[in-house]
Amino acid sequence: MAVYQATVSAPVNIACIKYWGKRDTKLILPTNSSLSVTLDQDNLKSTTTSRADPSFDRDRLWLNGHEEEIKDGGRTATCIAEMKRLRREVEEKDPKQPKLSSYPVHICSHNNFPTAAGLASSASGFAALVASLAFLYALPASPSALSLIARQGSGSACRSLFGGFVAWEMGTRADGSDSLAVQVAPREHWPDLHALICVVSDAKKGVASTSGMQRTVETSALLQHRIRTVVPERMAAITEAIHARDFPTFAKITMADSNQFHAVALDTEPPIFYLNDVSRAIIALVVELNRASVAAGGTIKAAYTYDAGPNAVIYAPAANMREIVELIVGYFPQTEKFNDVFGLFSADKPLSGNNL
Ligand code: DP6
Repeated sequence: MAVYQATVSAPVNIACIKYWGKRDTKLILPTNSSLSVTLDQDNLKSTTTSRADPSFDRDRLWLNGHEEEIKDGGRTATCIAEMKRLRREVEEKDPKQPKLSSYPVHICSHNNFPTAAGLASSASGFAALVASLAFLYALPASPSALSLIARQGSGSACRSLFGGFVAWEMGTRADGSDSLAVQVAPREHWPDLHALICVVSDAKKGVASTSGMQRTVETSALLQHRIRTVVPERMAAITEAIHARDFPTFAKITMADSNQFHAVALDTEPPIFYLNDVSRAIIALVVELNRASVAAGGTIKAAYTYDAGPNAVIYAPAANMREIVELIVGYFPQTEKFNDVFGLFSADKPLSGNNL
């Protein structure tokens, strides 16, 4: 008997222009476009196996070894239903195809990093879920077409279907058919850009992105200025900086956008705080590093960015990474985990080793 099973990994992506706010909460249509960098496959990722079998009695999902309920009409159920719909189109065109769309699926997913600690686990998770079903069903769909479905699992997930530099275009249509991810540049375009993840805390975050951003949409006046004026300009400028491999411009926009995202969180009623004292101290270190470099006639060396949690991601040219890591380890000697997501440093490769 044939076995219908597929396993796919999808990496985390870290936004430089943040998605924060929905204009349609069911379809997950954002109030602004966003842009991110997808990390390399061998680092923070979700690995998902999907299997279709006529003997299964219903669709089921396991996350990191624990079964999760698939709620009717919920995000996971929507993604599975949409993927089965695309499979049905394949079966209708070619009646010789096995009727996989009518089989229940079992989906098993594993993250190799802390879940829901502001490390974008829902992004890699839903991207891997959709991609594994796309392989299982042998769908002819492009990554942008699949991003329309991953977006309905978690907005930021649509960007993890591509590697490299990825924009999520907010779109204008009410049915969401133009709210999708496109690749701005492949990873190979700028191999010198590295990212360092500083795990400040791997505890689950206090206010989840979904409810936090809805509160911001309902209460923040600053968000209106951000989505109308600031983000459109930044999307254009950072795209140009990426194409030109212009690190100082990329860094300035990335830091400014992280700051504004946390400002709109603070402008929410009641206010939302994602950064903690260690996060703020890392910001101060990066600011001082850049100030000293520019004062000495050099350029900006590093850019910080923070999602909905206290963990820092630092983007920098590869040549600057050693200095940055030494600086941070110097100030935070108890820091447990360092992971250069492009492979220079990791928890099991000591910084003093020969890995540079
Ligand atoms: C701060 O994609 O987790 O990481 O669409 O409600 O699932 P939902 O939200 P989610 O929000 C991510 C917010 C962010 C910024 C970003 O990744 O762009």
